[in-house]
Amino acid sequence: MKSIIFVCLGNICRSPLAEGIAKKIIQEKQLSILVDSAGTGDWHIGDAPCDNSIKVAFTNGVDISMQQSRQVTKEDFIKYDLIIGLDDSNMANLKKLGAKGALKLGSFGYNSEDVPDPYFFDGFEGFDKVYEMIESCVIQLLKEHIND
Ligand code: 4NP
Repeated sequence: MKSIIFVCLGNICRSPLAEGIAKKIIQEKQLSILVDSAGTGDWHIGDAPCDNSIKVAFTNGVDISMQQSRQVTKEDFIKYDLIIGLDDSNMANLKKLGAKGALKLGSFGYNSEDVPDPYFFDGFEGFDKVYEMIESCVIQLLKEHIND
């Protein structure tokens, strides 16, 4: 596996966390794997991640503040070896857009659960759980695919 893209809806809450966590692990392990993230929606193109994602990442030693939201493109489906959706609705959107073989992040050790969308949470509560879930799944994903 040489490249991976995480895809959620807005690319401001969940997939930026997955990107930041994966990049940190890859850097620590001195691996050469391209990582990116994108959203299926276009509402937040150019925006930084949401404040609570920046905060929970920062608390865990991951800086995602410089990321900018972008919309997923058909070129991404060619460029990236692994396309990872964060919930069932992301998976359905990816399929509609023509992505083949996309995998759900929760299938890496989380019983294929959806990573809940914290955009609709009330405040910071719940972001810790989302972070924990994404981190655990990203670690497992990298373990499984690093030598592919
Ligand atoms: P994300 O969360 O998919 O985790 O980035 C969302 C961010 C924005 C919106 C929906 C979900 N929105 O509707 O603008």
